[in-house]
Amino acid sequence: MKALVDCAPLSTQAVIFCSFIIGGLTMHPMLNIAVRAARVAGNVITRGFENRSEIETQVKGPNDYVTRIDKEAEQAIISKIKQSYPTHSFVGEEGGIVAGDEDFKWIIDPLDGTTNFIQGIPHFAVSIALMIKGRLDQAVVFDPIRGELFTASRGAGAQLNGFRVRTSARKDLNGSVLATALPFKHKDRFSDYMTSFNNIFMQCGDIRRGGSAALDLAYVAAGRFDGYWEKGIKPWDIAAGELLVREAGGIVSDFVGGHDTMKKGEIVAGNPKVVRELVKQLKVTE
Ligand code: IPD
Ligand code: CA
Ligand code: CA
Repeated sequence: MKALVDCAPLSTQAVIFCSFIIGGLTMHPMLNIAVRAARVAGNVITRGFENRSEIETQVKGPNDYVTRIDKEAEQAIISKIKQSYPTHSFVGEEGGIVAGDEDFKWIIDPLDGTTNFIQGIPHFAVSIALMIKGRLDQAVVFDPIRGELFTASRGAGAQLNGFRVRTSARKDLNGSVLATALPFKHKDRFSDYMTSFNNIFMQCGDIRRGGSAALDLAYVAAGRFDGYWEKGIKPWDIAAGELLVREAGGIVSDFVGGHDTMKKGEIVAGNPKVVRELVKQLKVTE
């Protein structure tokens, strides 16, 4: 992908007129900055992955870890975006809360899939979303190992490495390949989880547990997974992925078909038909 021209701090009007061409598609200037930040973080992460013996790991909670690389990547993202948008506000998973203009809020998971990273499993991503006035507006999920860059701008579709992607055309769960996550931080929920898992598994083709919510959602957007569900997630796990799925023609909902994904920390994603079928099963244990 060609390097793109930098765009200094921009007014909303200027943003409308200032866009960049990438892979035949125009790229929103704020998305351009998010992509640059994701690539900088990607370099921090791949370097860290090559020297994993030097990683310092801390325990944040039950089965929840953070490394020096998560923190370095988050700082790199925030400082890169701040160069262009010094007045914006930031919420990063690793404590990177920066007060500022609440109308422009960046939601960052610098390394989604930390357990994979620690274990040497090359499946993790950088996730960056921008909310404007409470609405998701720009999204980047970057897999630095495969060099896969998933991007979306509100109203302009979703792309993988500059090429348009869409959710799958699956009409029901029959034959579908889904993704999910076990309730590894809340094992008291396991029995309810297994009830719905059992019902869904009996209807679908197969189920994956990849270990990165951001990539699960990006793969739904790209039609690689037909659907995905998880409970116990945080806004930074799903903010970018939600916009990717919507811009790829899919929908996201909470477990009862409502819009409170971030507030409730639960998400179902896929094309509308798949989500409807998943919600039917998930509702039972709600
Ligand atoms: C986790 C991953 C995992 C999901 C967890 C997340 P982290 O994020 O996305 O797939 O099941 O709910 O917390 O801790 O690796 O950034
Ligand atoms: Ca995460
Ligand atoms: Ca993380």
